[in-house]
Amino acid sequence: MPFWYGADYNAEQWPAETHEEDVRLMLEANVTVATVAVFAWSLLEPSDGEFEFEWLDRIIDRLYEAGIGVDLATSTATPPNWLSLQHPDTLLVDEWGHVLSPGSRQHVNPSSATYRRYATRLVRRLAERYGQHPGVVAWHVGNEFGNDNPRDYGDESAAVFRQWLEGKYGSIEVLNARWGTTFWSQRYRSFEEVLPPRAAPTFHNPAHLLDYERFSSDALLSAYRAEADVLRELSPGVPVTTNFMGFFRPADYWAWSREVDFISDDSYPDPAVEDSWMDAAMQRDLMRSLGGGRPWVLMEQSTSAVNWRPLNAPKRPGQMRALSYQAVARGADGIMFFQWRQSQRGGEKFHSAMVPAAGTDSRIWREVVELGRELRELEPSVLGTKTESSGVAIVIDWDSWWSAEQPSTPARLDYIDAVRSWHHALLNLGVTTDFVHVDSDLSAYDLVVAPMLFVADESTLARFDSFVERGGTLLVTALTGVTDADAAFHRGGPLGSLAATLGVRVEEYAPHDPTESVSVEGGVTFSTRHWAEVVHAEGAEVLATFRGGLADGGPALTRKRNRTGSAWYLAADATEAAARAVLNLILNTAPNPVIHTDPALPSGVEEVRRGTLTFLISHRPDTVRVARSGYDVLADTAVDEIVLEAHGVAILAAQSNTPD
Ligand code: GLA
Repeated sequence: MPFWYGADYNAEQWPAETHEEDVRLMLEANVTVATVAVFAWSLLEPSDGEFEFEWLDRIIDRLYEAGIGVDLATSTATPPNWLSLQHPDTLLVDEWGHVLSPGSRQHVNPSSATYRRYATRLVRRLAERYGQHPGVVAWHVGNEFGNDNPRDYGDESAAVFRQWLEGKYGSIEVLNARWGTTFWSQRYRSFEEVLPPRAAPTFHNPAHLLDYERFSSDALLSAYRAEADVLRELSPGVPVTTNFMGFFRPADYWAWSREVDFISDDSYPDPAVEDSWMDAAMQRDLMRSLGGGRPWVLMEQSTSAVNWRPLNAPKRPGQMRALSYQAVARGADGIMFFQWRQSQRGGEKFHSAMVPAAGTDSRIWREVVELGRELRELEPSVLGTKTESSGVAIVIDWDSWWSAEQPSTPARLDYIDAVRSWHHALLNLGVTTDFVHVDSDLSAYDLVVAPMLFVADESTLARFDSFVERGGTLLVTALTGVTDADAAFHRGGPLGSLAATLGVRVEEYAPHDPTESVSVEGGVTFSTRHWAEVVHAEGAEVLATFRGGLADGGPALTRKRNRTGSAWYLAADATEAAARAVLNLILNTAPNPVIHTDPALPSGVEEVRRGTLTFLISHRPDTVRVARSGYDVLADTAVDEIVLEAHGVAILAAQSNTPD
């Protein structure tokens, strides 16, 4: 595959004359791939069983003739009206039992057998027709699975959920025991009695809720798989993907990542939020990690404003380019947009595009053309190379996300916010962080951070223990190991067997009102936001203690050394600044993990190594100088110092590749 540069190409919204202009402009912008037919079901199958492909033949053939690859969507994300009206059983049902209406998009229950039958019939027809077409470079299944229909609570989903439960537990007695249904008289006599966790007077059984999240992610994945299976049968060798949405709570992307041939992602950082580039960096790191370090594709971003925020700020000059290079630096082999040509009608007409409504005499178009030219030049030195790992990983776990944010916990918790503090602290230290799954092999890492790993079963805790045994540095933060995978407490208290690894015992959680002053003092000093714990050091050294609140005077930060490795526990919540202070302490205390940091990097500037190149990217609105020397590939000149203008980018190679 070449480096992907292009967009969703909704050609069906435009007359044929526009298609010719589209191809001409695509070539001008160095577009290499177009995602076609994302929302075209009602044109491809205008009535039940009547298919019309000629218009799509023309689009695909024309793009192919022009040397532009087609990422062919299966069009199943939004069923046509006739299907919804003819088969209301396909419609989405919310937790109150409301049936959601067609008229927007994704109004469908992914578990509906009728929907699956119609969707796979369409996919079969598409794959038969285009599966061997030389212009089709990839299949794009559905679109953003679960974005508008994350969970369905209707009767058909209830039946599928019961089968899922039966597969998992085998018998209702096992389910009763593992869900703890003696609590509040919730015992079931058979699987037939189990319902989705629909609207109820107060909170549901936590194990029931957790299983429903797992089931709903699996239900979406199974709808994806139904289509992918057809494509793999009829279009062998053509890679199959679907576009992820970063840290998307309803879909456990670790499970999904095993079923796509390459990872692709949609990303829309808010241009009006000064540090949204940091969340974008975190999202790119997740995508690279989901693919095991292999290149991925940024499948959608905006050239400028979106249409779905309360205020849709445009990207500032250079900002789209800087965010694109951020994705490239962090492993992307493709930069794509939603969408090619700004719509004239419909619910997304205010959304920016590669070809703006204002036409090509525009800032956006000039930036699009310039980026396409640069990416084409860079392609030989970037394509297929890997982003360099710094030896640091953060554990990310959807079970923990789902569980920590349930009702009926010690406080309103925000899992991603806890992860964010640690990722952003590392980012500010100049460290490129990977994400790992709880079952991942940790041996490639020197430092592993487990923030708020709320759900951790014994096998995960044992894996952490052996990581430390083998000399790794482990940092575990508050609210880790709260429950096992059945949403039950570990016998003996929080952390389970990890308590021995860390040399601590957590006696009691002590969250406090944010206005109450509770701080951590000692080797690091910071104010907690709302979280503290009453902890006893049982074998660990105490490096900082709490001041104020119930835990006053007790351990807040501990370390248990283990020959070359060490296990740290932080019993407080941490802002990015607090997390940075803790990380600095870890990195400066022997035995310390050897991690290359660069605290001297100006704030708002990131530095990432990929292959033989070093990317320096500024997300600042002003000019900044960075002390680096090398060969500036974009400027085609040797430099002793880098001057980055607002949203400027420099890409350094050790030396010039072009012969003089
Ligand atoms: C999502 C969808 C696109 C479009 C964009 C708008 O990413 O996949 O179809 O709606 O949002 O930002």
